Amino acid sequence: MQAESKYRAEMDFRELLRKPRRLFGMTYLYFLAVLVVIGILYVNRLNPVGRNRVMPLVLKDSSAFVRDIPFQSPAVLPPVDVRVAAIPSDSVIARGREIYRANCASCHGENGMGDGAAGLVMNPKPRNFHAPGGWTNGAKIAEIYKTLQEGIVRNGMASYAYLPPADRFALIHLIRTFHPAPPTDSREEIAGLETTYQLATGSMVAAQIPVRDAARHLIQENAHAIADVSKQAAAFEASTDPAAVLFRRVSANPERVLTAMRSAQPRISALQDFVRLVTADPVDLGFRTTVSGLNREEWAALHGFIMKETL
Ligand code: HEC
Repeated sequence: MQAESKYRAEMDFRELLRKPRRLFGMTYLYFLAVLVVIGILYVNRLNPVGRNRVMPLVLKDSSAFVRDIPFQSPAVLPPVDVRVAAIPSDSVIARGREIYRANCASCHGENGMGDGAAGLVMNPKPRNFHAPGGWTNGAKIAEIYKTLQEGIVRNGMASYAYLPPADRFALIHLIRTFHPAPPTDSREEIAGLETTYQLATGSMVAAQIPVRDAARHLIQENAHAIADVSKQAAAFEASTDPAAVLFRRVSANPERVLTAMRSAQPRISALQDFVRLVTADPVDLGFRTTVSGLNREEWAALHGFIMKETL
């Protein structure tokens, strides 16, 4: 009887309204459940949430970064004694002016004001040699030498490493006549040029041409062979000779096969060498992969045919 009244008291909702704190006691489980569900959802979606915070990386057209190597004349750079070369003279400066007009004035201006036509659109502007401050490397002899050797490529000043060191010294002395108060090098700095660049031994600069031009030359030089190969492939196309038919069946790119076999010619005169070469990488040589499935007689026929046609 007592237990029953206790039970009724538990379910007495009017009592519950009078003491709302008990309401929380009964519902906190629901709050807990809702919080846990929200938590699980959040953790599950953490990845997209985090990813959206990361700025997307915009890739520029990568071909824009590819620069061809420049033309460069071969040069023999005769030895120079730095201690002598570091001393300016009228004749050296006159020589410097000549070289300067040909190579530098377009950017740096006829009188070294940094106002040459080619430099107008550059940023930063070509150095005004009359301005004493703000030089990237500096106006000492050793510093200008470094500029000419390495260039300041990031700022558009090219390397002039192909100019003979004596001509570079001539340029340096000319440029320093523009400077209102050219700073003097210490004896060590001048000697340092020799240590760094080994000028007393002389050196050589190899010729180079841009890859684009090299490729064009190669194609021109081989135009004859290319025409030959196309003519040959076209002839096989029409032929009913069983060996030619076999050749057509196993080659994906007949011109490529013929070109590859021509250059491999001396190494494939034995059948087994031929088979080994072709099966090693048939696709690269212009064959179909089915070539690996040929039987002995077919290999022999193919070998004989190719040897005959690519001699
Ligand atoms: C294509 C244009 C161009 C040509 C041609 C050019 N220069 Fe420059 N040169 C620049 C630019 C741009 C700077 C500025 C670089 C900087 O501020 O770092 C510069 C800077 C220099 C500097 C100053 C480096 C420093 O320490 O601030 C020297 C010295 C120099 N050039 C010498 C020469 C000589 C000598 C020649 C010719 C053999 C030459 N330049 C040809 C564009 C050119």
